[in-house]
Amino acid sequence: MKLIFFGAPGAGKGTIAKQLKESAGIPHISTGDIFRANIKNQTELGKKVKAILDAGELVPDELTISLVENRVKEDDCKNGYILDGFPRTMVQAEAWSKIEEADAAIYFDIEDAEVVRRLGGRRTCPTCQAIFHVETNKPKTEGICDVCGAELIIRPDDATEAIQNRLKVYHSQTEPLLDYYTKLGKVVSVDATGTPEAVFNELQSKLKK
Ligand code: AP5
Ligand code: MG
Repeated sequence: MKLIFFGAPGAGKGTIAKQLKESAGIPHISTGDIFRANIKNQTELGKKVKAILDAGELVPDELTISLVENRVKEDDCKNGYILDGFPRTMVQAEAWSKIEEADAAIYFDIEDAEVVRRLGGRRTCPTCQAIFHVETNKPKTEGICDVCGAELIIRPDDATEAIQNRLKVYHSQTEPLLDYYTKLGKVVSVDATGTPEAVFNELQSKLKK
């Protein structure tokens, strides 16, 4: 099963992808997580993209496409994968259609106001990428990752100004993908405003069909 997850920042793509990865046994490939790991490890790629991510802008298409193209050639992708946050521009979507055929493009439907509420309270693990929220998904011990014990952080792009910019970039660059994948008959839309359990159940039942 080759899946694309797209939707606004904070829609819950990462949260649901982590659950589906376990139940479907396919890898979760988040371009954002890959860039953040490179920033943390101060690689050449990390140095190149740090300012872009912090500001909520997009990494150049060519670089991102070749990164994902190489990633899906790895052994763990032979039964499929979840692409979380890629493609997110029309250039990426059209290029990707020539490289791989997706089985479905999952659209996480959510309003901006809920996005702002979610991202304002998000805490993430810089080591294992686990995702928490100070109200809706609290870690067992405040500030500490349940999974690996590392200290949780606020992502630099969860600062108020960066959230606003990410929403602007989302509406102008990524939202057109909804029309593109609808015309290809690939869209599976989920109501992303429910609880994580409700969103996951809706997705699973739609994927079974
Ligand atoms: P990326 O990491 O992909 O960020 P994003 O798209 O902005 O999405 P987020 O990770 O912020 O949100 P999410 O939908 O995963 O929500 P989450 O599950 O965490 O990209 C970061 C940056 O990398 C980009 O800005 C860009 O610079 C670069 N980049 C990445 N891909 C690129 C590409 N293809 N091309 C160019 N540049 C690229 O949930 C959010 C919060 O809500 C959490 O606190 C969570 O606990 C909570 N929550 C989740 N679900 C629910 C729910 N159902 N109910 C209540 N709370 C919930
Ligand atoms: Mg994410």
